[in-house]
Amino acid sequence: MASPTPVTVSIALNGTAPQNVTVPDSSVPLLYVLRDQLGLKGPKFGCGFGQCGACSVILFGKIARSCQATLEAIQQTMGLYGIPLTAPISVTTLEGIGTPANPHALQTAFIDQQAGQCAYCANAMIMGAYSWLNGRIGAGNKKVPTVGEVEDFLTNSTYTDPFTGVVTPTPYLCRCGAHVRIVNAIQEAAKGMA
Ligand code: FES
Repeated sequence: MASPTPVTVSIALNGTAPQNVTVPDSSVPLLYVLRDQLGLKGPKFGCGFGQCGACSVILFGKIARSCQATLEAIQQTMGLYGIPLTAPISVTTLEGIGTPANPHALQTAFIDQQAGQCAYCANAMIMGAYSWLNGRIGAGNKKVPTVGEVEDFLTNSTYTDPFTGVVTPTPYLCRCGAHVRIVNAIQEAAKGMA
């Protein structure tokens, strides 16, 4: 069996200057780089299959499941976005959309509404809602979503893997059952984002 070949990639994390990261093999998922090498706590390992969203990040401006985004897959598909292979990998995580001193409207709303219990799903909920609400606003819809629209987002979301094109049903589930508070938080955040 061939030995793993270490690879070095440049990552631009949360708007900071690109930094080089060396991993043992290009099959390493971005999630492991973010947590184990860059010390982030926002993206989490949940299912490991691209279904739960616990590992969600914004990758080159699109929501992505970092457990599925191996460095090899990212580099191979950068061309799809017209990004030169020499460009740094641009990643925004939960830590990058706001700070404790200057939180994002979603982060403030989730705290205001106490929208969670164990909060393991918080990264999925916030990053998913961040992408969904920004998509609506970008399309010119600045109305606060109705309860039904938020419930539809949480229940009927699908995720298209930017690397494989595979579409997976990805309902946003809170195992503690805090969905009512989560719906309230997303509506509250939408008012601040519009
Ligand atoms: S851990 Fe990546 S989608 Fe569940």
